[in-house]
Amino acid sequence: MTITGLKFAAAVLLAVSTGISYAGAGHQHAAETGVHNMAAMDSSGGGHMDHMNEVLQWLKHELGAKYEQPVPPATKQQMVSGQKIFTKFCVTCHGASGKGDGVAAAGFKQKPADFTDAEHSKFYSDQGRLYLIKKGSKGTPMPAWEDILKEDEILSVHAFIRSLRSPVKTINKGHTGHTH
Ligand code: HEC
Repeated sequence: MTITGLKFAAAVLLAVSTGISYAGAGHQHAAETGVHNMAAMDSSGGGHMDHMNEVLQWLKHELGAKYEQPVPPATKQQMVSGQKIFTKFCVTCHGASGKGDGVAAAGFKQKPADFTDAEHSKFYSDQGRLYLIKKGSKGTPMPAWEDILKEDEILSVHAFIRSLRSPVKTINKGHTGHTH
């Protein structure tokens, strides 16, 4: 997987640096892993914050009122199976500790999220994240998982990554926006 990951990352880097949409590279990756990433379409030229705001609008639009609905606390069983799923399918990009430093991530223009960053973790709602795991994130290497993982597996892996969050120490202390 390391070699494949690096090859993929290199392909993405090349595509991005030459200004070509990397849908092709995403497709190649999809074929290699059996992931059908139809979400890898156009890559936006905007900055990190622009991109995140776009994703946020998309999630809110798609989910409507459901966006704000709470996702119940994880059960023990969800945590156990969620960790297995994470190790199997997500670590290449998201890194073993969930910090977004997986081997494949080095070449990505749009880096995977740091799941341990409590500030970042507040940016999308839990329902938003669940939906993003199902559908993938357009224009980024984040694949859609809804055809690979079952609903309860998606709930489990979401429960697991949610548990990686470090506790929020400063709540609303002048943090007006997401700035990194
Ligand atoms: C091929 C690389 C890759 C794999 C494999 C991958 N991801 Fe991602 N993921 C990304 C990238 C890149 C982003 C950033 C997307 C963006 O900025 O819109 C991301 C974003 C996310 C987000 C949004 C997080 C946030 O708060 O910004 C979640 C949730 C997520 N991934 C979960 C998963 C899960 C769960 C798995 C395994 C089932 C997985 N990812 C596998 C590359 C990957």
